[in-house]
Amino acid sequence: MSLPDHTELIRRARAARKNSHSPYSGFRVGAALLAANGKIYTGCNVEISTYALTLCAERTAAFKARSEGVKSFRAIAIVTDAQELISPCGACRQVLMDLCGDIDIILAGPRGAHSVFRLSDLLPMAFGPGNLSRHKKP
Ligand code: THU
Repeated sequence: MSLPDHTELIRRARAARKNSHSPYSGFRVGAALLAANGKIYTGCNVEISTYALTLCAERTAAFKARSEGVKSFRAIAIVTDAQELISPCGACRQVLMDLCGDIDIILAGPRGAHSVFRLSDLLPMAFGPGNLSRHKKP
Protein backbone atom coordinates (compact mmCIF):
# COMPACT_ATOMS: atom_id res chain seq x y z
CA MET A 1 0.00 0.00 0.00
CA SER A 2 1.46 3.37 -0.89
CA LEU A 3 1.55 6.00 1.84
CA PRO A 4 -0.81 8.97 1.49
CA ASP A 5 1.04 12.17 0.63
CA HIS A 6 1.08 15.43 2.55
CA THR A 7 -1.83 16.83 0.56
CA GLU A 8 -4.07 13.95 1.57
CA LEU A 9 -2.99 14.26 5.21
CA ILE A 10 -3.74 17.99 5.21
CA ARG A 11 -7.12 17.31 3.62
CA ARG A 12 -7.97 14.86 6.41
CA ALA A 13 -6.79 17.30 9.11
CA ARG A 14 -8.89 20.03 7.55
CA ALA A 15 -11.95 17.77 7.65
CA ALA A 16 -11.24 16.79 11.29
CA ARG A 17 -11.06 20.49 12.22
CA LYS A 18 -14.77 20.74 11.40
CA ASN A 19 -15.52 18.50 14.42
CA SER A 20 -13.63 20.83 16.78
CA HIS A 21 -15.48 21.36 20.06
CA SER A 22 -14.12 24.80 20.95
CA PRO A 23 -16.97 26.87 22.46
CA TYR A 24 -14.58 28.74 24.82
CA SER A 25 -11.70 29.74 22.55
CA GLY A 26 -13.40 29.57 19.16
CA PHE A 27 -10.03 28.25 17.91
CA ARG A 28 -10.60 25.20 15.72
CA VAL A 29 -7.76 22.71 15.24
CA GLY A 30 -7.67 19.50 13.21
CA ALA A 31 -4.94 16.88 13.05
CA ALA A 32 -4.29 13.81 10.91
CA LEU A 33 -1.66 11.33 12.08
CA LEU A 34 -0.18 8.94 9.52
CA ALA A 35 0.80 5.49 10.81
CA ALA A 36 3.59 3.48 9.17
CA ASN A 37 0.97 1.04 7.89
CA GLY A 38 -0.69 3.84 5.90
CA LYS A 39 -3.68 4.27 8.19
CA ILE A 40 -4.66 7.82 9.19
CA TYR A 41 -5.93 8.72 12.67
CA THR A 42 -7.66 12.08 12.89
CA GLY A 43 -8.37 14.32 15.87
CA CYS A 44 -9.73 17.73 16.79
CA ASN A 45 -9.46 19.88 19.89
CA VAL A 46 -12.10 19.14 22.52
CA GLU A 47 -12.61 21.89 25.10
CA ILE A 48 -14.03 21.27 28.57
CA SER A 49 -15.72 23.88 30.78
CA THR A 50 -12.98 23.44 33.40
CA TYR A 51 -10.47 24.59 30.79
CA ALA A 52 -7.46 22.58 31.97
CA LEU A 53 -9.10 19.32 30.88
CA THR A 54 -9.13 20.42 27.24
CA LEU A 55 -7.48 18.03 24.80
CA CYS A 56 -5.59 19.39 21.79
CA ALA A 57 -6.20 17.95 18.34
CA GLU A 58 -2.74 16.36 18.13
CA ARG A 59 -3.15 14.50 21.40
CA THR A 60 -6.63 13.33 20.46
CA ALA A 61 -5.20 11.78 17.28
CA ALA A 62 -2.17 10.26 19.06
CA PHE A 63 -4.24 8.72 21.86
CA LYS A 64 -6.78 7.34 19.40
CA ALA A 65 -4.04 5.61 17.42
CA ARG A 66 -2.12 4.29 20.44
CA SER A 67 -5.33 3.01 22.04
CA GLU A 68 -5.85 0.91 18.92
CA GLY A 69 -2.41 -0.63 19.35
CA VAL A 70 -0.60 1.40 16.69
CA LYS A 71 3.03 2.12 17.55
CA SER A 72 4.78 3.25 14.39
CA PHE A 73 4.15 6.59 12.68
CA ARG A 74 5.44 8.79 9.88
CA ALA A 75 3.86 12.24 10.06
CA ILE A 76 1.12 14.43 11.47
CA ALA A 77 -0.67 17.30 9.73
CA ILE A 78 -2.08 20.13 11.84
CA VAL A 79 -4.61 22.63 10.49
CA THR A 80 -6.21 25.69 12.07
CA ASP A 81 -8.23 28.68 10.85
CA ALA A 82 -5.36 31.09 11.63
CA GLN A 83 -3.58 32.87 8.78
CA GLU A 84 -0.18 32.07 10.29
CA LEU A 85 1.01 28.45 10.65
CA ILE A 86 0.32 27.13 14.17
CA SER A 87 2.77 24.67 15.71
CA PRO A 88 1.94 22.14 18.42
CA CYS A 89 1.94 23.25 22.08
CA GLY A 90 4.64 21.96 24.42
CA ALA A 91 2.42 19.27 25.92
CA CYS A 92 1.60 17.88 22.48
CA ARG A 93 5.26 17.91 21.41
CA GLN A 94 6.11 15.72 24.41
CA VAL A 95 3.17 13.34 23.83
CA LEU A 96 3.99 13.01 20.12
CA MET A 97 7.66 12.32 20.87
CA ASP A 98 6.74 9.63 23.44
CA LEU A 99 4.03 7.89 21.41
CA CYS A 100 5.04 8.56 17.81
CA GLY A 101 8.80 9.22 17.84
CA ASP A 102 10.63 11.71 15.65
CA ILE A 103 7.99 12.19 12.94
CA ASP A 104 7.38 14.91 10.34
CA ILE A 105 5.18 17.78 11.54
CA ILE A 106 3.20 19.30 8.68
CA LEU A 107 1.73 22.70 9.54
CA ALA A 108 -0.98 23.97 7.23
CA GLY A 109 -3.06 27.12 7.09
CA PRO A 110 -6.71 27.29 6.09
CA ARG A 111 -5.72 27.57 2.41
CA GLY A 112 -2.90 25.80 0.59
CA ALA A 113 0.34 26.93 2.27
CA HIS A 114 2.19 24.47 4.45
CA SER A 115 5.61 23.81 6.00
CA VAL A 116 7.23 20.61 7.21
CA PHE A 117 9.39 20.31 10.34
CA ARG A 118 10.96 17.42 12.19
CA LEU A 119 9.59 16.89 15.72
CA SER A 120 13.14 16.73 17.13
CA ASP A 121 13.70 20.27 15.78
CA LEU A 122 10.61 21.49 17.65
CA LEU A 123 11.54 19.59 20.83
CA PRO A 124 15.34 19.42 21.07
CA MET A 125 16.93 17.32 23.84
CA ALA A 126 13.56 15.72 24.52
CA PHE A 127 12.99 13.79 27.69
CA GLY A 128 11.65 10.34 26.84
CA PRO A 129 10.92 6.77 27.91
CA GLY A 130 14.60 5.89 27.39
CA ASN A 131 15.62 8.22 30.22
CA LEU A 132 13.40 6.35 32.66
CA SER A 133 14.43 2.82 31.71
CA ARG A 134 18.11 3.67 32.16
CA HIS A 135 17.45 4.80 35.73
CA LYS A 136 15.12 2.02 36.82
CA LYS A 137 16.09 0.48 40.17
CA PRO A 138 16.32 -3.35 40.24
N1 THU B 1 -4.89 23.71 20.49
C1 THU B 1 -4.70 22.55 19.79
O1 THU B 1 -5.64 21.77 19.60
N2 THU B 1 -3.45 22.28 19.35
C2 THU B 1 -2.38 23.10 19.49
O2 THU B 1 -1.29 22.73 19.09
C3 THU B 1 -2.54 24.41 20.10
C4 THU B 1 -3.83 24.66 20.78
C5 THU B 1 -6.24 24.01 20.97
C6 THU B 1 -6.44 23.89 22.46
C7 THU B 1 -7.59 24.82 22.69
O3 THU B 1 -8.80 24.13 22.44
C8 THU B 1 -7.44 25.89 21.62
O4 THU B 1 -6.57 25.35 20.65
C9 THU B 1 -6.87 27.20 22.14
O5 THU B 1 -5.72 27.00 22.87
